[in-house]
Amino acid sequence: MKVLITGGTGYIGSHTVVELIDNKNDLIILDNLSNSSVDVLDGIKKITGKKPYFIKLDLTDTKATNDFFDNNTDIEAIIHFAAYKAVNESVENPLMYYKNNLISLMNILTNMNKHDIRNLVFSSSCTVYGQPDKNNLPVTENSPIKKANSPYGNTKQISEDIIIDTLSANKNLKAIFLRYFNPIGAHKSSFIGELPLGVPNNLVPFITQTAIGIRKQLNVFGGDYNTPDGTAIRDYINVVDLAKAHVIAINRLINNKNKSQYEIFNLGTGKGVSVLEAIKAFEKSTKVKLNYKIVDRRPGDIEQVWADTSYANSELGWKAETSLEDTMLSAWNWEKYIRNKK
Ligand code: NAD
Ligand code: UFG
Repeated sequence: MKVLITGGTGYIGSHTVVELIDNKNDLIILDNLSNSSVDVLDGIKKITGKKPYFIKLDLTDTKATNDFFDNNTDIEAIIHFAAYKAVNESVENPLMYYKNNLISLMNILTNMNKHDIRNLVFSSSCTVYGQPDKNNLPVTENSPIKKANSPYGNTKQISEDIIIDTLSANKNLKAIFLRYFNPIGAHKSSFIGELPLGVPNNLVPFITQTAIGIRKQLNVFGGDYNTPDGTAIRDYINVVDLAKAHVIAINRLINNKNKSQYEIFNLGTGKGVSVLEAIKAFEKSTKVKLNYKIVDRRPGDIEQVWADTSYANSELGWKAETSLEDTMLSAWNWEKYIRNKK
């Protein structure tokens, strides 16, 4: 029986594929390549010695998705990464986000019902907490779900609700929501990493592309937040550490070790880091000076959020281990590797 990885050539998906292959899980990777490239499969092969089975498919294409599931009846579990993920882009183009993220999910759930596929790990996000009250930081899995700050965040809130309602109508289904904080860095081999198509939206790819000279300057969005240095605070987690949590989560479901029909875990480091601190960590670990400037806030951004990870630590036996400096260095090594290759 196989595990289907949607969005498997993407950033977090590809790192998870490597960890799953190491764990001897049998996989199918599905992606429409809207934000990734098939070359990722070569990187996965270089690391693991295996090139997993890949299918190019758009999950919003209901007929093609149904045909795929009709033709692949050996799937027992799904890790659903496929989605659009840029907060600011979702503010500019909300319908693109609602359409892609929600229709994809509904097509997956329809086929889980139809084909009796019982196990789902869903890529959720700390954006579901909206802007937590100061006295509610760090956020636990039970922190209030406040109004989302962006259409993207709203798609994650709605997605969780859609899954919960689907589970409530079909008691055979089980799900784990992994609420990621801010994944950064690359595999230590530098054979895979974060490679957004076009101008990066996320902080760390923008940092590394500025450092290597592709971008002139990093804009730091907002220096007037109510934080110690005025810049926004996030919980930056190493992507390989994050990927390892997926191996635990999917096998927990497959082996019926879950404690309730759906479970929620925060995946972060437990530490809040400001944008300026992130830049300093990059400069310290790489010895590269970064050209940056503080500019206006970015629409849709929240001020600060970081995770209480004690539930994931105790219940999954999982902990983020890699330091921020080592993670920044891995992102830099990846950037240098990918530019030299081209
Ligand atoms: P990514 O863009 O690198 O990967 C997503 C992949 O899904 C891409 O390869 C893209 O081509 C594919 N995809 C998108 N729409 C699709 C569709 N309709 N059909 C098939 N494939 C489709 O992003 P990522 O950083 O790896 O994020 C993976 C998941 O984690 C997403 O659901 C994202 O919302 C969530 N998440 C990401 C972060 C983050 O900071 N990276 C944080 C929290 C949650
Ligand atoms: N930032 C800059 N300059 C940039 C890019 C980002 O200052 O060029 C700042 C942002 O304003 C924010 C911080 O760096 O304060 C992190 O921004 P990212 O875009 O890297 O990450 P976000 O927190 O906005 O969102 C990311 C993912 C979402 C996910 C969320 C979880 O894109 O999918 O993390 O926190 F849900």
